[in-house]
Amino acid sequence: MEFKIAVLAGDGIGPEVVLQAKKALQAIASVYEHDFIFEEALIGATAIERTGNPLPQQTLNLCLNTDAVLLGAIGDAKYNDNFDVKVRPEQGLLKLRKELGLFTNIRPIKPYRPLLNASPLKREIIQDTNFIIYRELTGGVYFGEKTTNEAGTYASDLCEYSENEIARIAHLAFQAAQKRKNKVTVVDKANVLETSRLWRKVVKEVGLSYPSVALDFLFVDNAAMQLIINPKKFDIILSENLFGDILSDEASVITGSIGLLASASLGDKKALFEPIHGTYSRAKGKNKANPIASVLSAAMMLEFFGLQTEADKVYEAVEKSIEYQVVTSDLKPDSNFGTNEVGDFISNYILNKDDLLYF
Ligand code: IPM
Ligand code: MN
Repeated sequence: MEFKIAVLAGDGIGPEVVLQAKKALQAIASVYEHDFIFEEALIGATAIERTGNPLPQQTLNLCLNTDAVLLGAIGDAKYNDNFDVKVRPEQGLLKLRKELGLFTNIRPIKPYRPLLNASPLKREIIQDTNFIIYRELTGGVYFGEKTTNEAGTYASDLCEYSENEIARIAHLAFQAAQKRKNKVTVVDKANVLETSRLWRKVVKEVGLSYPSVALDFLFVDNAAMQLIINPKKFDIILSENLFGDILSDEASVITGSIGLLASASLGDKKALFEPIHGTYSRAKGKNKANPIASVLSAAMMLEFFGLQTEADKVYEAVEKSIEYQVVTSDLKPDSNFGTNEVGDFISNYILNKDDLLYF
């Protein structure tokens, strides 16, 4: 089959890790006889430097006209040292999510057995953890009206949600739970926030259509604690934009490295796949960054295309790289392997080039 994929490598280590994901996809294309047509475009700080715009129209048009988007990472330290700069890399990603209507962000958390000691959390606590965060991605405080006064002594960010924005992601969360352990946990701050109270009401209503799924609610402060005390008890965590963002970085600690966590962002028509990590600017160009989050994002893209066997092959290749310890230094401090070597191992495994697998 033929698929057209927009590749937005972005900033920092984005281009290096996306390259490994492309290698994995090319290997899949050759083994399973598919045609993946990659088209590159600018986003983030790189796009600001070249065009003045973090999401050039050309990039948006490309994304609207492809089967899926593969994104690396966006952001640059220089913007985080100066918040007076009005045009920022993050605006490119947020606008892209909004324009493509990507309201559901799916972030699976499952530690690999050989890495149970790579986490600072105790092995007994994290083993057998397996949950997915469903993070709302186009609403909430990220997209509400922002104001500041002229004196620079006042600022506001509005948090808004409508019934429909909550219901559509809730349906997807319940449907996912039905295929898993039949449990949805909503994370909110309903003791304080009106939007959270609306979330509770709407999710309860949606839940009536999924009687086999147990529904519970946690306040976000408590959830932050429960995630590291007893992560096993979660199946699907459903949350609004900001809470989902924060909890997913916290949850990455369970796996041993944020460099392992992939995500799928889905809308009614479009889909984008990206690691949950940032641009790790210090490691840029150093062959140091972990490419697995990007490779796994590509695997999620294959699932979205309906190519489950192919996706499973990528998952298997990643498992083997971990089993044989062909991993970057975030997972094994004395590792001799870099971004490229891990990417080579994965693509060679997919290609069945056994002679190239042992380093
Ligand atoms: C993420 C990132 C983004 C977010 C930033 C870069 C805007 O942290 O995808 O988790 O907050 O959504
Ligand atoms: Mn984040």
